[in-house]
Amino acid sequence: MSRERIISGQSISPEEESFILSLRPKYLNEYIGQKKLKDKLKVSLEAAKKRQEACEHILFYGPPGLGKTTLAHIIANEMGSRLVATSGPSLSRTGDLMGILTNLGDGDILFIDEIHRLSPTIEEFIYPAMEDFKVDFVVDKGAFAKVINIPLKHFTLIGATTRAGLLSPPLRDRFGLYYHIDFYPADELKEIITRSAHLLEVSISDEAAIEISRRSRGTPRVANRLLRRVRDFASVKGDGTIDLATAGIALDSEGVDNLGLDSLDRKFLKIIIDYYKGGPVGIEALGATLNEEIDTLVDMVEPYLLKIGFLQRTRRGRMVSQDACGHLGVKLEIKDQANLFEE
Ligand code: ADE
Repeated sequence: MSRERIISGQSISPEEESFILSLRPKYLNEYIGQKKLKDKLKVSLEAAKKRQEACEHILFYGPPGLGKTTLAHIIANEMGSRLVATSGPSLSRTGDLMGILTNLGDGDILFIDEIHRLSPTIEEFIYPAMEDFKVDFVVDKGAFAKVINIPLKHFTLIGATTRAGLLSPPLRDRFGLYYHIDFYPADELKEIITRSAHLLEVSISDEAAIEISRRSRGTPRVANRLLRRVRDFASVKGDGTIDLATAGIALDSEGVDNLGLDSLDRKFLKIIIDYYKGGPVGIEALGATLNEEIDTLVDMVEPYLLKIGFLQRTRRGRMVSQDACGHLGVKLEIKDQANLFEE
């Protein structure tokens, strides 16, 4: 990522990571929200336990920071199994994956984050591992090439991706269970913030927790990060307790507005308004104008703007809504472009 964003779902530093880790729920009964997902997951885990088998392979998809990694760890804890974590971009050689796979025991969990970024070679290699619990390893070259078939233990692969559509169909088809994780409503975020404050032994008023939740763009990782900034502010500028006024001042000073938008979100919307008369404009043009990677915009900026109705995706590109103009205090008549919308 090109720069630090306090409201980004992506984690930043190892230190930030360990802070988030300390607040992570370990079992399903501590996990707040995503009720439908939890109910379905409970049934699948119970059934696997009853049969004394490994759970089916699971795919989690949804925007960053909503709990995909947390859920993978929870599943391991609930099943009493070991979890080995890796990610699509870091698996570059079949030999590395081979080492990981052959060391997995029955019921162990292999968690692959950003699974859409596996190389095609690694992806091919993983198919028989997922389907038949074996890997085909080619030794030697040319006329002497031999395929050695190595059996594996019955493990569970848990994959996480920001967009299910990024996965190749053959890989997607090899998962038995798919779970979409959606943004959290403010009341659930408030509960998460209150729980985190309790774990951090910091006192927070209900109004302050509501204020932080409103500005957390539906994302627990953002909520915890904002809580941390507000806690620091309260301990330096006040007596350490978090009330509504402290939360408001701290969040304003971080550049997070009352809907949780930061400077990149506002710049993104402003460019569509100022340069492209509200749109439609292609994402490539926006990436070039903002000097941002398209993936950053698509994965980390757009989902929440789409969710709150500030942005629309049409066949001819991105458009801002009248509400977005209102929020930014811009007077612009957005034409009715219903004919442009995706079916
Ligand atoms: N911390 C981060 N996400 C959480 C969740 N869904 N429930 C409880 N604590 C959390």
